[in-house]
Amino acid sequence: MIEMTRVIGIISGKGGVGKSTVAANLALALRKFKKNVLLIDCNLSTPHLSYYLGATDYKSTINDVLLGKTDINTSLYPYNGINYLPASVKFEDLVGVEVTKFKKDLLKLKKNLDFVILDAAPGLGKEALFVMDASKEIIFVTTPFVPMVGDIIRCKEVLGQLGEKKMGLVLNMVTHDTHELKSEVIEEITGVPVMGEIFYDKNVVHSMVMRAPILQYRPKSMASVGFMKMAALLSEVNYETPMRMKLHKLLRTIRNVVVPSPVIMPQSTEEVKKDFLSNF
Ligand SMILES: Nc1ncnc2c1ncn2[C@@H]1O[C@H](COP(=O)(O)OP(=O)(O)O)[C@@H](O)[C@H]1O
Ligand SMILES: [Mg+2]
Repeated sequence: MIEMTRVIGIISGKGGVGKSTVAANLALALRKFKKNVLLIDCNLSTPHLSYYLGATDYKSTINDVLLGKTDINTSLYPYNGINYLPASVKFEDLVGVEVTKFKKDLLKLKKNLDFVILDAAPGLGKEALFVMDASKEIIFVTTPFVPMVGDIIRCKEVLGQLGEKKMGLVLNMVTHDTHELKSEVIEEITGVPVMGEIFYDKNVVHSMVMRAPILQYRPKSMASVGFMKMAALLSEVNYETPMRMKLHKLLRTIRNVVVPSPVIMPQSTEEVKKDFLSNF
């Protein structure tokens, strides 16, 4: 692996917030900006990426690499312009897997890669920690609610023991309803910059059922635009936000004024901290 390769771990405290969705679509969006990308399923106990991608005809897995059965360089599978290393869905392939070897395997990569995207298991167990350890950068995925945002504070404490890492945060399944925490509040509470906002978009669920990432299934959907914006930011290129996205956000704001929600989340960081995060 070359020094310039950006190894990014996609991390969250809670499962189901959208890590695998973000990992898959961010990898594909980076490819749209001509980046060389490797996507690795590091969620060994509950791997979902191959299903989400609709990838079936692979031969080797990360399990084989970690078991020393195959070399990482010969185990990569081409998928729509990116490189992909799946995890085995067979439970027996977990036996004897040594995750601590992963960092060394990454260093052996010969391909000229701009980005390596690691889809992690949730939480702070061994299976999430090896990804945090191997990553140079961390992207936290969270939904805009207190418990999941609180998880990030916990994850950050653990990360502090693994050396200096660049951190960013993606808010997923955002509807801009008033019961959600505001992006600015989340940024202040966690101390991590928000680098992306992905709208709640039913097309994402449809795409999963159809076994194709949203970026391919509905490239113009709100969620796809969110992923393109994120990839542009990471690639340091300009990306003009489509008018319909700006309009969508504006309509939400107007709706919140005209038809106020019965549940409203405190708008200031101080209030949120006092009410909900006093234990952190
Ligand atoms: N922005 C979104 N809008 C709607 N549904 C989403 C969105 N992001 C993810 N999902 C759905 O939420 C579920 C969990 O997502 P997933 O990426 O598997 O989370 P994780 O990897 O963190 O467990 C999936 O069914 C996925 O299709
Ligand atoms: Mg996942």
